[in-house]
This record gives sequence, C-alpha cells and structure tokens, in this order.
Amino acid sequence: MTTDTQAADAGTGRAPSGERRVRVELGSRAYDIVIGSGLLARAGELIRTLTHRKRVFVVADRTVAGLHLATLEAGLAAGGFGATVSLVDPGEGTKRLEVLERVLDEFIEAGAERDDVLVAFGGGVVGDLTGLAAGLLKRGARFVQIPTTLLAQVDSSVGGKTAVNSRAGKNLIGLFHQPALVISDLDVLSTLPARERSAGLAEVAKYALIGDTDFLAWLEANAEALRAGEPQATGEAVRISCEAKARVVAADETEKGQRALLNLGHTFGHALERANGFGPALLHGEAVGAGMAMAMRFSVRLGLCPEADAARAGALLNALGLVTRIPDLSGGPYVAEELLAHMGHDKKNRDGRMTLILARGAGEAFVQPDADEAEVLAFLRQTCAA
Ligand code: NAD
Ligand code: GLY
Repeated sequence: MTTDTQAADAGTGRAPSGERRVRVELGSRAYDIVIGSGLLARAGELIRTLTHRKRVFVVADRTVAGLHLATLEAGLAAGGFGATVSLVDPGEGTKRLEVLERVLDEFIEAGAERDDVLVAFGGGVVGDLTGLAAGLLKRGARFVQIPTTLLAQVDSSVGGKTAVNSRAGKNLIGLFHQPALVISDLDVLSTLPARERSAGLAEVAKYALIGDTDFLAWLEANAEALRAGEPQATGEAVRISCEAKARVVAADETEKGQRALLNLGHTFGHALERANGFGPALLHGEAVGAGMAMAMRFSVRLGLCPEADAARAGALLNALGLVTRIPDLSGGPYVAEELLAHMGHDKKNRDGRMTLILARGAGEAFVQPDADEAEVLAFLRQTCAA
C-alpha cells in the first residue's frame, strides 16, 4: 500500500516533496519504506520514531561514506543522534564472516545494546551484512536500511533477507531479519555510476517479467529515461518495485512459496557470479539480467514460452543497458559444466533436485521444482557457445 505521507497528514493532495511511503504489511514486524528527495537530511527525524537512544550504529562502505556520510551524520544530528560508524570495503568480498565479526566487535566495544538501532548505509552488500549483524547482535537488534544503490532501493533493502557468502556459494549464511524502516533517498542515486544503475534496472525489470505486463510496457516506454537516471522516472520505478516486493514479502515472508518468483534469473545469475569468484568483473544485477534472459530462453527451449516473449524480455534488458548474450558478458570464461555445478548449490534446490524459476511468457513466471539437469546442461552448452 502506498501513501503520500504529508498529503495524507494535511489532506491537501500531493506533498511538495513528493515523498511516498510503501507499507510492508507483516503484522508486528510491519514497516514503512519512505521514498523521496532530501531524506538523508531527515534521517534523524525518521529514525527518532523508533528509539529514544542517543546514538545509532552505522555500517557504511568507504565509497558511500566519502560521498554521503557527512550529509547523513548531519541529518542524524538534527534528530538528536550521534553515530558510531564502522567502515567496510566496497564490493561483494565484504559479505564474509570475518567482516561481520569485526563490525559486531566494533559495535559491542562501543557499547551497543539490544535496544540500539543499526543503520545500513550503502548498497546491497552493506544492507545484507548489516541486517545479519543486527539479527545476531545480543540475540537481535533492530536496523534501518538506507539504501544508496538503485538495486538496493528496489530490492535488497526490502524483505529481510540478510546474509554473507560462504566458500560454497552466495548468501549461504544468513537470517530472515526485517528492517524496522527503509529510507530511500533518491538524491543519493545521482552519484551512482551508469553501470551500477543498469545493474539495478535488472531487478526493476524482474518485477515486470515475473507478473506485471502494465509495468513491462511502462518500462519499455521509459527505458531511455531510466538508463539515463532521470529522477522522476527513477522515483516511479522505485515506488512500483517496492510495492511489488512488499506484496510478495507480506504474502510469503520466508519463501515457502511465491517469494521464490523473486529469484527469476538468479539461479543462472548466481552461477555466472560464482564463475567470477563474486568479483567485480560481473555485478550482481548484470548477472541477474543475463540470468533472466537465460531463464526466458530456457523456457522457450522447453516449449513453455513463446519465442517472441523471450525476445521482448531480451530487448527490454538491452534497452536498460544490460548484456544478455553470454559470450558478450563481462568476466568469465563461462563454461557450461562449471555453471551447472554452481547451480547445484542454489538454496532453492531440494533433495538434490534443481528448482528453477521459468516463464510461460513475459510477465508470467512460475516455479519449476524439478528441472531436468541434462536439459539444463544442453542449454548451457548452446548458450555459452552462441
Ligand atoms: P554494492 O552494495 O556492492 O554497491 C555497488 C557499488 O556501488 C559499490 O562499489 C558501492 O561502493 C557503490 N555505491 C553505492 N552507493 C553509491 C552511490 N550512491 N554513489 C556511488 N557509488 C555508490 O552492490 P548492490 O548492487 O547494491 O547490491 C548487491 C548485493 O545485494 C549482492 O550481494 C546481492 O547478493 C545482494 N542482494 C540482496 C538482496 C536481498 O533481498 N537481501 C536482493 C538483491 C541483491
Ligand atoms: N531478492 C529476492 C528476495 O528478496 O526474495
């Protein structure tokens, strides 16, 4: 559910700031996603609704801290908060147990208590790490997500999946731990590199490809503006994406059923990421973009999906700045047999059988619990070569 907060308060139509709130309806763990401009400056006021403590515990990656931490700290101070800040290196390599332990030790030594609030200030890497740290700190503290990448604003900051990676694969050590609040300041996206923007747009396209053909058409019409980072189109994409994610999470918080659809493209995508050792050669969103194109083409191969729908999905992803042909994808090399082995570690797999998210069309994804591995391998051989 979305509300225009200030308008709702004043009863006077649209709020001047255009701030929107999307509610994630999870009973006693329900929370708001606040989306708008100038929100870092209001972070203290927003977080003040959660706690009377005088200090928050912020995890930030060094790049984000260099660009935006001073603004956040001023916003926190305006709400009466000091900040203990733990800086981590940017990149997927930060999602590991050693970094988690260091962050927890720093916060505990600085006096963090269970009633304190942690703040994740960065992209999905910082959000996933901080959420897990909060879930573990003194058996569970609350945390606020302040996502600074498009990907984190449309996906990873919402829904309470927290994790670090293990040697065997991605996100294998984690908890479901919902944030108490998500503050998505659209202004911070102005410093995001174009490549990261396109990576975020992959997760935006995902909501359309899963089950929203109106949004699909809107994305096709606005692809150029989104790729350029045009603020109005971007804000709309963040809102629609958060509404879609909030609906799915409210219906299936711990992924017993339909939440698995949010992993469209992720089983192929995680294998592509793992082929790069989760290194910077291939971004998570780039892997998801290529993975969604693969899921659509594999669905065509199985006779489940019209070829025109896979082509439509591919064209949209390309228009959003994403590569969909595996031989053209950055990083690699991508070897079919290795990708299949990586796919075997996916969390959706049950009793050694591979679960895939496939599609009956663009906007019609479904869960395929028992994928035929020989078919997958044949497809991967064809896809990696062509
Ligand atoms: P990221 O956190 O690595 O951030 C990408 C890069 O952008 C980093 O180098 C960062 O320093 C930089 N950056 C961040 N904000 C910036 C800004 N405003 N201006 C300039 N640079 C900025 O990557 P990501 O794409 O945000 O997140 C990917 C991670 O999220 C992966 O680990 C993935 O597994 C996870 N994820 C989790 C969920 C979930 O539900 N928990 C969902 C999707 C993805
Ligand atoms: N990004 C997948 C999920 O949150 O379920």
